[in-house]
Amino acid sequence: MPTNIENICCIGAGYVGGPTCAIIASKDLDISVTVVDLSQPRIDEWNSSRLPIYEPGLQDIVEAARDGSGLNPVTLHFSTDVKGAIHRADLIFISVITPTKTVGVGAGQAADIKYVEAAAREIAEVATSDKIVVEKSTVPCGTAEILRDIFDAVGDPQVRFEVLSNPEFLAEGTAIADLLSPDRVLVGSEGTPSALEAASALADVYSSWVPRERIITLNIWSSELAKLSANCMLAQRISSINSLSAICEATGADIQEVSHSVGLDKRIGPNFLKASIGFGGSCFKKDVLKLVYMAETLHLPEVAAYWKAVVDIKNGKRTALAGTTVDGKRIAILGLAYKKNTGDTRESPAIDFMGSMLAEKATLAIYDPKVSYNKIIHELGELFGHEAVARYVKPCENAYSACRGASTVVIMTEWDEFKTDRLTLPPALDLGDLTASRLTTPTVKRADSVSSGIPSSQSEDRSSCDDDGLLSPGTPPTNTNSPAPELINQAQALFDSYGPKRLDWARISTLMRRPRLVFDGRNVVDASKLRSLGFLVQSIGKKSEGVLRR
Ligand code: NAD
Ligand code: UGA
Repeated sequence: MPTNIENICCIGAGYVGGPTCAIIASKDLDISVTVVDLSQPRIDEWNSSRLPIYEPGLQDIVEAARDGSGLNPVTLHFSTDVKGAIHRADLIFISVITPTKTVGVGAGQAADIKYVEAAAREIAEVATSDKIVVEKSTVPCGTAEILRDIFDAVGDPQVRFEVLSNPEFLAEGTAIADLLSPDRVLVGSEGTPSALEAASALADVYSSWVPRERIITLNIWSSELAKLSANCMLAQRISSINSLSAICEATGADIQEVSHSVGLDKRIGPNFLKASIGFGGSCFKKDVLKLVYMAETLHLPEVAAYWKAVVDIKNGKRTALAGTTVDGKRIAILGLAYKKNTGDTRESPAIDFMGSMLAEKATLAIYDPKVSYNKIIHELGELFGHEAVARYVKPCENAYSACRGASTVVIMTEWDEFKTDRLTLPPALDLGDLTASRLTTPTVKRADSVSSGIPSSQSEDRSSCDDDGLLSPGTPPTNTNSPAPELINQAQALFDSYGPKRLDWARISTLMRRPRLVFDGRNVVDASKLRSLGFLVQSIGKKSEGVLRR
């Protein structure tokens, strides 16, 4: 069994395989890491300057390891030569998807591990030297045994295969930080001398940057189940707080005050208590369902029902939001990704919501900073029919074009740019009086008005926005009626302190049709500030007002 790892192969160049291997390649300069995938376009993107996934900090790390930098060698490779990479590797990560089965026994709940099995089969067929095979994918407890059977049945009897479980705990949007400073790294093995040797070799790989005390060696079944359990417990917290947010909406309690107060209890803690329209992403739902299915097959119906409720509560919340009359109206959807700092839309709560809106023939004007026009059209077309999407879905380049003419704005993703935390203009620039026609900046003709898809009327709209249609530092609004210098200076100071961009909600208020509704599915806006701009606001976990109260 290899004890000193010099060559790593990772099967699956996705959200886990790509970032994880980029970190290993940047930390273990003696190891050559090759990430392989069946998808040529995906590998081409990993080899280009436009990576297939967005993850803060990833680009620099990939480029340095992939292209070499300074005295550092090239340690990271992306390829479709799966066989070649397996052949050379001492250690192979399997990092392919493990979605929910859609047909057959357990459809709708059980994990479909056919991709993991296919990868194992390929390894078994190709390997001519001993291999450490590492389950990186999230799998049901017991999968290692299935892999062992494949190696015993298909592999060369002269070749030894050691299967380890090393589940990944990174979250999208914070993948690099999570990988660089993990709470723990689990290395599960079968506990035989050879397995422990393999586990030690894998632990050595991580020890280049992870403190030894955070690298936990444990039995392989515990490792598999610990990963599933972590996701289920996290999902359960969100469903718990979301269930309470429904009570808040009905009673007048405020979910943010409740979660803050509850989270101050050290035994509970403040994380994962943000109420939302429901958790999304490729993992929580499927992983909770994996546990549900395991409990069912183990004849533990109460356990299955308990965990099933975690998924059901998530779904209930979406339905509640989708209750208004929208036929023929334009709805601006701000955010399509399942959370901020990622372009991933898998299981995004926005998708189901949009499905119900499309069924009612609403026009959906969608803006997300990291989800491209093509992705929106393609993914929604696959789900809801290309004809309906061509007719009713309008991907927009910025929030302003999405909101123009809309009667409702729905915030689906908590992108920072949607926040109102900096919407505090001085009294003389009273937001209540603010209209787009009274806001001016030095008159700059927007050269991008056509290419950006912004109608010409908007391109002439003189406001404090940059070419992206977003507020940016150093572009203060000035009031044409009373340009008192001290106020302008005050405004300038405010805008200079802005840092990251924020939407100009005052401007949005001038673009929308009345009554102007904002559904805040993430509690990112300060409802009172928006109300002072003339919006009607409904926030998750807060009592609604006026016409919104049903
Ligand atoms: P992904 O879809 O982004 O990537 C999987 C890749 O594997 C795809 O590019 C696919 O083309 C490739 N692939 C599939 N079969 C292959 C084969 N036989 N040979 C070569 N390539 C193959 O998936 P992901 O989000 O990276 O998730 C992978 C696993 O990691 C899942 O089990 C998931 O539950 C788990 N996980 C995901 C995250 C996350 O944040 N996305 C976090 C922790 C764990
Ligand atoms: C989650 C886990 O956090 C990771 O540890 C795990 O590795 C990963 O799943 C996985 O196995 O795939 P991820 O799904 O990327 O990571 O993102 P999270 O930050 O966990 O958010 C999941 C969903 O919950 C998002 O839709 C998010 O908006 C929502 N959420 C999160 C809330 O609604 N409230 C919160 O307080 C936190």
